[in-house]
Amino acid sequence: MQNSQALAESLPKHIAVIMDGNGRWAKSQGKPRVFGHKHGVQAVRKTIRSAAKMGIQAVTLFAFSSENWRRPEEEVGLLMELFISVLSSEVKKLYKNNLRLRIIGDKSRFSERLQRKIEEAEKLTATNSGMVINIAANYGGKWDITQAVKSISHKVAQGEISVDSIDEDLITSELTMSDIPEVDLLIRTSGECRISNFMLWQLAYAEMYFTPVFWPDFGEDSLIEAVTWFVERERRFGATGEQIKELMEQRASMNKKDSSV
Ligand code: IPE
Ligand code: IPE
Ligand code: MG
Repeated sequence: MQNSQALAESLPKHIAVIMDGNGRWAKSQGKPRVFGHKHGVQAVRKTIRSAAKMGIQAVTLFAFSSENWRRPEEEVGLLMELFISVLSSEVKKLYKNNLRLRIIGDKSRFSERLQRKIEEAEKLTATNSGMVINIAANYGGKWDITQAVKSISHKVAQGEISVDSIDEDLITSELTMSDIPEVDLLIRTSGECRISNFMLWQLAYAEMYFTPVFWPDFGEDSLIEAVTWFVERERRFGATGEQIKELMEQRASMNKKDSSV
């Protein structure tokens, strides 16, 4: 494909996703909300696999917001258990696929058991060079900015930096995910059109894609649709979903060749 280079360059580098609609998806089938969360895990797998195939550098998935503690205790408990069991069962696969996993958010409120699992998973995949997967858990955009402000204030109080040296770059460097490109594409499922205190600073220039699809129904085709929309918005390259699929196949066969040497 003669334009595959141009197409590859016009893809988003960092995709963030607000995975929403698990509860409504379950309700529409007469099932309890937790049924939706369990099925949501499958959509996480599909999204990660497809994004890696596309050659995306980083994917950030909003799994649990700092406001989600307000949900019924039983639902919160189940989400935590699900989180632990998915971490345990998936991390080896992520490691083998050269993917790097990080959990972004205030981890101090999690149980010790969960904190230990998180630490193990991050450590195992830390040296992988492929796509970075950030799971935002007990994350809030306001929390992120607050912790950055605190850290900068400490440095000023210690005399390490002056007030005049505080600029946008310094603030960026104190936020989570400062080592990866800012978000180019934000996807929110379930038809809601709000940010719900997800990344605030890092979304400054993101294109925002809202789809009515409930999260458990999101898959490779949905991701291709979102990315096709993004590429068209950028107006750098008029690509079709077919071309993006072709690029994914090319990359997959290149990866196979690489791993066979
Ligand atoms: C998103 O689905 C998952 C989490 C927030 C953990 P919801 O649970 O918000 O589902 P709806 O929005 O109620 O349908
Ligand atoms: C946002 O979804 C958080 C996650 C997807 C984890 P919510 O469903 O919790 O957001 P609101 O409450 O509808 O804004
Ligand atoms: Mg919701």
